[in-house]
Amino acid sequence: MGGQVERRGLLISLEGLDGVGKTTQIERLHVWLQERVQEVLCLREPGGTEFGEMLRQLILHGAEVSSGLAEFLVFAAARAELMETVVLPALSRGAVVLMDRFIDSSVAYQAFGHGLDPDVVMEINRLVIKGCTPDLTCWLRGEPYALDSGDRMEVRGADYFRRVEQGYAWLSEQEPERWLVINSRQNPDIIFDTVTTRINLLLDKSLGGKNR
Ligand code: TMP
Repeated sequence: MGGQVERRGLLISLEGLDGVGKTTQIERLHVWLQERVQEVLCLREPGGTEFGEMLRQLILHGAEVSSGLAEFLVFAAARAELMETVVLPALSRGAVVLMDRFIDSSVAYQAFGHGLDPDVVMEINRLVIKGCTPDLTCWLRGEPYALDSGDRMEVRGADYFRRVEQGYAWLSEQEPERWLVINSRQNPDIIFDTVTTRINLLLDKSLGGKNR
């Protein structure tokens, strides 16, 4: 199974409902980080590897799946491949890894949204990430304002999204020191400033200038 991985970099995830502006913020953060650290990776889940991108196509746009467990295991398989081949090696090199969604999406969407047991989801997540919990998770809290792709999650409706949002709220209460909760309805510049202020603190504390 492999033990804990030596970890010198930083792992930062962005979470929130579809259409709250995560991807815009991630793209800006990527550029901002490139100017400050030696190596930064910007990845999305599901995806980030050839295998993961194929699973993304399958789960978001392919055949219908009614089992919540089957759905979760596809996300978990994509995550396992991404961790082993990309994220863990990058963290051991000292890179900053920015994730557009990560483990918490599975708890929010598959456990709270779809009704899977959160303990099952969290236990499998735990095996998949091998101790690499994010250093910071930024949650853009609030209702979607721009749903565009019409993928299978996006058409699940308001009740589903409400449960997903409750899942994020629950998660942020479990580990308040990891979570930065941000109102997604604010001006994007204010959101960006809030996130970068927090990341700057992390860079100073964790990297101690090593990777700058
Ligand atoms: P996005 O990349 O446009 O946010 O689309 C990914 C979709 O997949 C989004 O609706 C959330 C969903 N998702 C899950 O349901 N569980 C997961 O573990 C992950 C990573 C994503």
